[in-house]
Amino acid sequence: MDKLRIAIDGPAGAGKSTVAKYVASSLGIHHLDTGSMYRAFGLFALESGVDPTDAAGLAALLPNANIEVTFDDEGAQHVWLNGVDRTADLRTEAVSIASSAVSLLPAVRDKLAALQRAVGEKYSIVMDGRDITTNVLPDTPYKFFVTASVEERARRRIRQLRRLGQEADFAQVKADIIARDRQDSDRAYMPLRRTEDTMLIDTTKISVREAVERILEVISKKE
Ligand code: DC
Repeated sequence: MDKLRIAIDGPAGAGKSTVAKYVASSLGIHHLDTGSMYRAFGLFALESGVDPTDAAGLAALLPNANIEVTFDDEGAQHVWLNGVDRTADLRTEAVSIASSAVSLLPAVRDKLAALQRAVGEKYSIVMDGRDITTNVLPDTPYKFFVTASVEERARRRIRQLRRLGQEADFAQVKADIIARDRQDSDRAYMPLRRTEDTMLIDTTKISVREAVERILEVISKKE
């Protein structure tokens, strides 16, 4: 049987990874959070002392970044950087900002998109990110754009940071989200954008569960 590939894009903090995770577990398939791969490279830049906005420095660093993704028995994704599982180190604000900066570079995007397509060749999968519907899996019939208002996304991010034991200021988190949205949507190469054949799901006022149900409904109608 042909592999099932579901593409989900959307801005930071819209809940797309959570939605993608539940869709994947409902269907019994893997979930690839592609942002974590950009985060791994952002972390590598920070730890290597390369400024994440220094294109030449990043280009020199890229061949030394061996980024791999595996799935454990529970289906959870692990991201490996040069042979070390760095999954637990990817969710800090510093890494968020660095990952958005490194994702501007075409060479970084091409390398990671090729790795993501290879994962999609191997498994039935739900992938979420910024260019999945437009670049990584443009031919899948299952394409969704999950978004929410900036305020709602800032509130969620603060809750998420709190669970990780980090305190954050609402105005600062909101400003960071706006800056990252701008960077992700305004970049020249493979920006975040919604195409006409991609279904819009706004999670500002609906629950994750409802968003998941909408997606599953579309899939069951087409399958
Ligand atoms: O989804 P996230 O916040 O973990 O992603 C981190 C950064 O990676 C985000 O600011 C933009 C970038 N990214 C991207 O450019 N393309 C993707 N497919 C996924 C993430």
